[in-house]
Amino acid sequence: MSQVFDVLVIGAGPAGYIASIRAAQLGFNVACIEKWRAPNGELALGGTCLNVGCIPSKALLASSETFEDIQEHAGAHGISVKDARIDIAKMLARKDSIVSKMTKGIEFLFRKNKITWLKGHGKFVSADDGSYRVEVVGESGSELVEARHVIIATGSKARHLPGIAVDQHLISDNEGALNFDSVPPRLGVIGAGVIGLELGSVWRRLGSDVTLLEGASSFLGACDESVSKEAFKLFTRQGLKFSLGVQIGEVKTLTKGKKAVVEVHYVDTAGAAQVLECDRLIVSVGRIPNTDGLALDAVGLATDERGFIPVDEHCQTRLPGVYAIGDVVRGPMLAHKGEDEGVLVAERIAGQKPHIDYNCIPWVIYTHPEIAWVGQNEQQLKAAGRDYRTGQFPFMANGRALGMNSPDGFVKVLADAKTDEILGVHIISAGASDLIAEAAVAMEFKASSEDIARVSHPHPSLSEVMREAALATDKRALNM
Ligand code: NAI
Repeated sequence: MSQVFDVLVIGAGPAGYIASIRAAQLGFNVACIEKWRAPNGELALGGTCLNVGCIPSKALLASSETFEDIQEHAGAHGISVKDARIDIAKMLARKDSIVSKMTKGIEFLFRKNKITWLKGHGKFVSADDGSYRVEVVGESGSELVEARHVIIATGSKARHLPGIAVDQHLISDNEGALNFDSVPPRLGVIGAGVIGLELGSVWRRLGSDVTLLEGASSFLGACDESVSKEAFKLFTRQGLKFSLGVQIGEVKTLTKGKKAVVEVHYVDTAGAAQVLECDRLIVSVGRIPNTDGLALDAVGLATDERGFIPVDEHCQTRLPGVYAIGDVVRGPMLAHKGEDEGVLVAERIAGQKPHIDYNCIPWVIYTHPEIAWVGQNEQQLKAAGRDYRTGQFPFMANGRALGMNSPDGFVKVLADAKTDEILGVHIISAGASDLIAEAAVAMEFKASSEDIARVSHPHPSLSEVMREAALATDKRALNM
């Protein structure tokens, strides 16, 4: 006899654990299958985001920013610190304890919401009369479970390049790059995207000489061009070295003296053969959906040509009662997008009619300054032939930003030329990840730039720059 649940969720990352909690809140009997093992061997909830993604990387960002602030910026405040040093083992232990607190927090939430955690790997077995059987293969054997509603939330894994063996030591993806036991004097990064920039910045602040090799000829192509230009200028000034438009060739590990080094052979944008020698290499060239061993075919499902599980706008697969959410389906690979889809699916199963406006999902890159945006960028509006107005305001003219020693960057608001509806907001600044939330709310409510301009913003605060940028769409910025 198999255990029967109302809702069975496969995967306990942000998409799956949030779907589980929301379904439990709505009165369903929920089970969630998860097999993740923490480095200490314990099973852990939270998936990539909590264990080896968003949460640990932000812990390291904060440590490295604190170190750099003490070294580079404390002097401006009249504070002198001699011999600032970083204890890498302590920094990693702090990161690990934050991860553990967060993953244990989800275990608590599961208990609170009476969600059954099935420990093991889930794979489809059969579909019978609107009910799905799934096998959970665990340490001590396997069990069959059954549910009328199955939510696939199996996430994604790092894409590796053919011929480049990731050993999580000399050559790492996002996982190994969170655990370097010392600061590599020379760090190479293949892929100057989100992970490459965030983790490259961490190790640069701690002392690495960081070179990023990027295949695309443009930098941060998904950003508004004015933001990517500004970011390139600022990151270069910080000391990150970029080579754009390269073609990666052979990657070798060899011993020089007593030291193991990595050689990356590549062709630069001018067609010349180059070699980058480094002490560690991060490969951050995107992620691929994770459907390994799910046995989708057992119930008649298949992935598309890019490996994603096809779903409709409500995250339903071609099978009634089977949904897929998060990184394993189309759309940006962002934790909060997965969370939103988790809530959406749980509520649809309960007969509610929620909706996600994917245009209003904010994006963030946690560099310093941070980059965040929501909605359309100027390139997209131009390509669509939209008539729009632009308002831009720099943080340099904001008292709070100067007080914080964070004068870099700007907010740019794009609004429809006729209706004034906000079409996109693009920020590069300290705290952009928090500032963008106002823009996301405004866009969800179809606000105009006039609406933002009319709303009282606290003074002094970074948020005033949002208001000034909104005013600037009508050439009414007050402090410029
Ligand atoms: P990405 O898509 O952001 O960047 C990958 C970069 O590698 C691109 O610039 C691409 O042009 C380049 N590339 C691809 N193949 C290459 C090759 N053969 N040689 C040289 N360059 C090559 O992917 P990334 O940074 O690995 O991150 C993966 C995913 O994780 C992203 O989709 C992102 O959404 C998500 N993520 C989000 C974060 C956030 O929201 N702050 C943080 C970290 C990851």
